[in-house]
Amino acid sequence: MLSYSSPQFALRTLLKYPGKLITWEGLDGSGKSTQLALEADRLRGRGFRVTATREPGGTAVGQQIREIVLHAPRGSVTPFTELALMFAARAQHIEEVILPALRVGDVVLCDRFTDSSLAYQGYGRGIPLEAILGLETMLCQGVRPDLTLILEIDPETGARRSGQRNRAASDPDTRFEQEGIEFFERVRRGYREIAQQEPARIRRVDGQGSIEEVHARVRQVVDEFLTGNPHGLR
Ligand code: ADP
Ligand code: TYD
Repeated sequence: MLSYSSPQFALRTLLKYPGKLITWEGLDGSGKSTQLALEADRLRGRGFRVTATREPGGTAVGQQIREIVLHAPRGSVTPFTELALMFAARAQHIEEVILPALRVGDVVLCDRFTDSSLAYQGYGRGIPLEAILGLETMLCQGVRPDLTLILEIDPETGARRSGQRNRAASDPDTRFEQEGIEFFERVRRGYREIAQQEPARIRRVDGQGSIEEVHARVRQVVDEFLTGNPHGLR
């Protein structure tokens, strides 16, 4: 049987694939989706095969989970339920979308991944980080980002931008966007600390300024990663 502690499990998690996983992190309204879309177009134009996806979501089951975690009434979802649902969506997403794309050599651009759980459920909600990393070991099949960009903005700017975006689309604010500024200050501190722990993987990008200014910074980080990586370019 393939148990969590068996050598086969460990081996499976060590198997490498030709693709690359680039994740995008930051506060709500930091510009992740905008920059991810620009990079997806640019990389496709340069001949890369790109899979663009997001969490929670990315699959039919993940989309249903997204509805619950983002739009259930405030106070109706416990922090542990929230965490479990984020990882349930992630497990499905890895199996159905991310691993197949990595196996065929795609550059996978994923809007949020495990660092969001550490920042939001860990630092934001106060769940111990070890508990979150335990779920990651159990459910993520060894899939870790090769590169992570954290778009940094202050919480007020993020709230203003996401509020404007939601109003323009006539979308309601999510359960997270209804949180106060202190929640987002904790999440922001979380991202900073996570970035300090893993400087080789995580790049902090200034998300202030125009979309074009931010994109110039993003482009530089992505190009440096892809060209400096002997297995990355195709
Ligand atoms: P996220 O995915 O991080 O929540 P979005 O990319 O959806 O952020 O951006 C939130 C809103 O802010 C959108 O309406 C978007 O057009 C706008 N936006 C994105 N980047 C910038 C920027 N650099 N300056 C001003 N507005 C921006
Ligand atoms: P989304 O609208 O995709 O984010 P954004 O506003 O940044 O474009 O909403 C996803 C929300 O879910 C966001 O507020 C962060 C939260 N989230 C977590 O709390 N933990 C997680 O593991 C993930 C993937 C997302």
